[in-house]
Amino acid sequence: MAMATSHTQASQMHHFAPLSEIPPKTFETERLMLRAPTIDDCELMFRTYTSDPVATKYMSFPCASSPADSVPFVKGAMSNFAGEPSDHHMFGWLVFRKETGECLGSVGIGVQDSTFLSGGYILAPSAWGQGFATEAWRPVIEWVKRQPNVQRIVAEHHPDNPASGNVMRKLGLTSEGIYPKHSVLPNISSEKVDMVVWAWNRDAS
Ligand SMILES: CC(C)(COP(=O)(O)OP(=O)(O)OC[C@H]1O[C@@H](n2cnc3c(N)ncnc32)[C@H](O)[C@@H]1OP(=O)(O)O)[C@@H](O)C(=O)NCCC(=O)NCCS
Repeated sequence: MAMATSHTQASQMHHFAPLSEIPPKTFETERLMLRAPTIDDCELMFRTYTSDPVATKYMSFPCASSPADSVPFVKGAMSNFAGEPSDHHMFGWLVFRKETGECLGSVGIGVQDSTFLSGGYILAPSAWGQGFATEAWRPVIEWVKRQPNVQRIVAEHHPDNPASGNVMRKLGLTSEGIYPKHSVLPNISSEKVDMVVWAWNRDAS
């Protein structure tokens, strides 16, 4: 694994600690191609999942009313992949089915602090139940686990969204139980709701 060795790389990476390098912009699996988004993808994201009330119900962002709603996320991800300073902590990848070329959704990771990584995923409902979320998130999580300074990966889901927990379990995270009033899910409530928290801890692996 290449490490950030030059001064420039190290200074670019300090706000992404614990990552010692910028993640790859693409991943490939048996059925899927993942790639970093560009501004031109906002329309595609809107058509595929950001505007879908079913897909976004349990997400931490509001269901989109226009493609422009995704611009901050995409610009943040682009800056992060370029190693530029950014207020956004997410790296995201759009997920494409190789066989058809269709966009299925996206997966992402977020740098929370010096040792923790968080993650998430969202697919269009027509793509659910075929193992795609697990297949798409797997290479990203495997890459993160190879980052020596990452001590902990956390992900959480609403108790009524068990499919999400099953993806986490299949990728080696363990349930830490329900954390009361943990997060705001704006498509459900403006109040904080309980969440099931899952984690992978390097010490325990
Ligand atoms: C959560 C989500 C990404 C799962 O995607 P998916 O491609 O259907 O997941 P997979 O096919 O990889 O399935 C993973 C596991 O969940 C199980 N699963 C699928 N749908 C399920 C459901 N409705 N209830 C319980 N388990 C379910 C699968 O059976 C599989 O487990 P198994 O292999 O042991 O059978 C998808 O439902 C989604 O995009 N939902 C909307 C966005 C969202 O909620 N994201 C997560 C926010 S925390």
